[in-house]
Amino acid sequence: ISITQPPQVAWASGQFTNGPLIRKSTRLQNLTHVFMDEKAWLACDPQQIVYDVEMVDSAPIAGALYTGVTHLQPGKVGDEYFMTRGHFHAQREQGEVYYGLRGSGLLLLQDEKGTARLEPVFPGSVHIIPGFTAHRLINTGNDILSALAVWPCAAGHDYAALTQGFNLRVVEEVGRVQLKEYHHD
Ligand code: F6R
Ligand code: ZN
Repeated sequence: ISITQPPQVAWASGQFTNGPLIRKSTRLQNLTHVFMDEKAWLACDPQQIVYDVEMVDSAPIAGALYTGVTHLQPGKVGDEYFMTRGHFHAQREQGEVYYGLRGSGLLLLQDEKGTARLEPVFPGSVHIIPGFTAHRLINTGNDILSALAVWPCAAGHDYAALTQGFNLRVVEEVGRVQLKEYHHD
């Protein structure tokens, strides 16, 4: 009989201990054409980290699941809040679950017809992301937004399918969170 120590996540911070872990930082320079205001994006520090993903290094064998935490910094490009790039899964039917751990923000969900909706993300929130649905986290708060995700290894990512971007944007106007319909020209 063997007892194996599993990875451990601190629920309040989303920090993992006891790997095996993989980390990836996404900086403003990696987020070309993601934010609406190109001028404002160019004026930002390209090295600034927008989000870090830390995930358990699991073997992508058939039926396996990945677990990872996204830490999304507070901030804005122009008046648009920091957000993840967002994606459909390459295997479109594959779903995912997000759990809010700390901070406050929004989960943007957009189906293949382009219909968008939002769910508030907060400590303890549970988000069932169905298949055929693109997803993106948006940090509307002043603190780091951390969310844990569980998804099938087989899902993959399709970032290219969203080159037109999401149809709904979240901006700060006169100190308040505002939603904007957005269609790329
Ligand atoms: C995995 C998933 C998350 C995101 C992460 C970063 O399917 O949805 O782990 O990968 O929040 O966002 P993207 O991948 O859009 O840069
Ligand atoms: Zn995903």
